[in-house]
Amino acid sequence: MSGAKIGVYDSGFGGLSVWRELRRLLPSESLIYLGDGKNCPYGGRSREEITRFAEEAVERLVAEGVKMVVVGCNTATTAAIEHLRARWTSLPIVGLEPAVKPACLTTQTRRIAVLATEHSLRSDMFLRTANRYASDVEVVKVVGRDFVEIVEANEEHTERGMRAVRSVVEPLVRQRVDKIVLGCTHYPFLRHLIEEVVAGYGIEVIDSGEAVARRVKWLLERYDIAAKEGAVPEFSFITFADEEYRRRLELKALAIEEELQRESVHQI
Ligand code: DGL
Repeated sequence: MSGAKIGVYDSGFGGLSVWRELRRLLPSESLIYLGDGKNCPYGGRSREEITRFAEEAVERLVAEGVKMVVVGCNTATTAAIEHLRARWTSLPIVGLEPAVKPACLTTQTRRIAVLATEHSLRSDMFLRTANRYASDVEVVKVVGRDFVEIVEANEEHTERGMRAVRSVVEPLVRQRVDKIVLGCTHYPFLRHLIEEVVAGYGIEVIDSGEAVARRVKWLLERYDIAAKEGAVPEFSFITFADEEYRRRLELKALAIEEELQRESVHQI
């Protein structure tokens, strides 16, 4: 079992931001990525639809023999995680929790923003988490309008990307939030633009990628299914869209790999 892959699933490219943290923390683990692509974006869809897509995705990953599934998608987590866990009772399934807790615990202005998809924000999961950790914190909920589409089109470094980020983030600066929680896995790919807009205002941008990777590590150890140290990992990519989309997922993962390599060279 320890040699089997971990399956990472998202509506599209977003889960690759989780993939990046998994690669960073668990370099020996083999991974298989399923980016739906065909039904993306999920954000405006109903819970029933998203649950159906998520179920199909996990079925596919199970058929590939994965030892664990990471639902690298906040929207699919809020819609379907309980359903998935009830159906695959012996498979560890990790979902995405937005980083509302650390934001609530450290905010000075007592006002934080959560950026996420329409579906996730509607689910009220963020609000419940916020109430649990700090009932006196105001949570400003904002949809990252166009963010998913921009990442899907690989336009993170374009004027269109900057325009979309400005129109969503500038009002948050005026509202004096001091934490912006990225509650959608596509959004970390726009982090450089968000940080450019908030530069100088003392606003921290937080995402959950690293925390999820730590949770995966903990579960691998607990179930005794971690890859052997030094094992050479293998990667594969699948999609419900077409071969071109699959290839683009692979190329983005390759670019992430190069970025991580540059990072480790700098650290030496
Ligand atoms: N990446 C997904 C999330 O974390 C969903 C994006 C979408 O398909 O709308 O919420």
